[in-house]
Amino acid sequence: MEKTALNTMLQKNKQEHLLPYVAAMTEEQAGIFEAELSKIDFAALEAITEESPVRGTITPIEAYTLQRRALEKEENLRVGIEAIKSGRLATVMLAGGQGTRLGSDKPKGCYNVGITREYYLFEAHVEKLIETEKKYGVKLPLYIMTSEKNHEQTVAFFETHEYFGYGKENIGFFRQKSAPCTDFNRKLLMESTTRLASSPNGNGGWYVSLAESDCGKEMRERGIEWISLFGVDNPLQRFCCEEFIGASVRANASCAVKVVTKAYPEELMGVMCLEDGKPSMIAYAEMTDALRYATDENGNLLYTYGDILNMIFRVDELDRCMGAEMPIHIARKKIPYVDADGTAHSPTAPNGFKYEQFLFDAFRYMSSVFLFEVERSKEFAPIKNLTGADSVESARRMLTENGVTL
Ligand code: UTP
Repeated sequence: MEKTALNTMLQKNKQEHLLPYVAAMTEEQAGIFEAELSKIDFAALEAITEESPVRGTITPIEAYTLQRRALEKEENLRVGIEAIKSGRLATVMLAGGQGTRLGSDKPKGCYNVGITREYYLFEAHVEKLIETEKKYGVKLPLYIMTSEKNHEQTVAFFETHEYFGYGKENIGFFRQKSAPCTDFNRKLLMESTTRLASSPNGNGGWYVSLAESDCGKEMRERGIEWISLFGVDNPLQRFCCEEFIGASVRANASCAVKVVTKAYPEELMGVMCLEDGKPSMIAYAEMTDALRYATDENGNLLYTYGDILNMIFRVDELDRCMGAEMPIHIARKKIPYVDADGTAHSPTAPNGFKYEQFLFDAFRYMSSVFLFEVERSKEFAPIKNLTGADSVESARRMLTENGVTL
């Protein structure tokens, strides 16, 4: 495309502020820039609002509680171990996030939670796979979702640490897609004088990105039927969990979700529910007092199950739901950008929007979603911040309480 045609396209899409950048680009740079722009749906960008979507009728969802688990533990373990040994289970780690709250410039998985020794988040997860291999003699494949922002660093980290002893051939990496960032008036921001500012497009597109990647191809060749999916930021995460896998296989669930109960009604946690009879999630910001304090006849909270980003999916169901439309959520963030003359800005307050899709929006498309309750003191130590709630500090405390030497 000629620069003049590119300029017309920018004007047509109300992005005239980019004309000075284009004027200073070489023809080649303008060609690459045009290719980036051509992937953007400007009408959709304009249409996404900050308002919470209008929700359907919200009702409570049932879970397979700790009490029920105790009654069927042996059978669940038996079926889970069989599934692990069958070689039809793969694991997927979501590690494409930017970890902005933690404030580290490295991928979050490279964070060292050790105190007297090095103990990285990535390592904590690979350790579980090695334990599973020791117990059952199978190497479950691990596919790690990275983003444009952290792919190279993540792969290099694994190389440097020799794949934490699990073997290069058992760990694959695939990149999630990026979304452009805009200011509050939906004007695209620039990361450099020739490139758009962008950010990972949220964890909602994980399966599309996996399916389109070499990891997805390998997964199909291996005949994988179930995926155990988990987030990078919880070092207490138990994702090769025999009992969980067994219970989900027995329930023939399209998707099974590990949940914990809220510690108290006001806790900052989104909760699972049914919306118009379909599995869904209410974000914390959307909770009304009526939902927050609703109880059953025994005084138990009706909306209490929060997911901990540890799930099992049936691959055939993921394939069936892959084309389904996922809403795009926008969030006000601090987005570094450069002016057309190259002056760089690092805002100290939010200056624009990032656009993301969320994994839990896919629940409504699944034929069945099975909630599996776990004890938070044993499985939930997310690292979002440096100190305070959900932090390096709290995770270290919980790891120590669970017998991990740091
Ligand atoms: P969070 O929503 O906590 O985001 O991700 P984050 O990027 O880690 O941290 P902040 O919000 O910037 O501080 C939950 C999980 O989803 C993954 C993260 O890596 C983490 O495992 N994730 C999130 C992705 O893989 N891609 C994304 O685009 C966003």
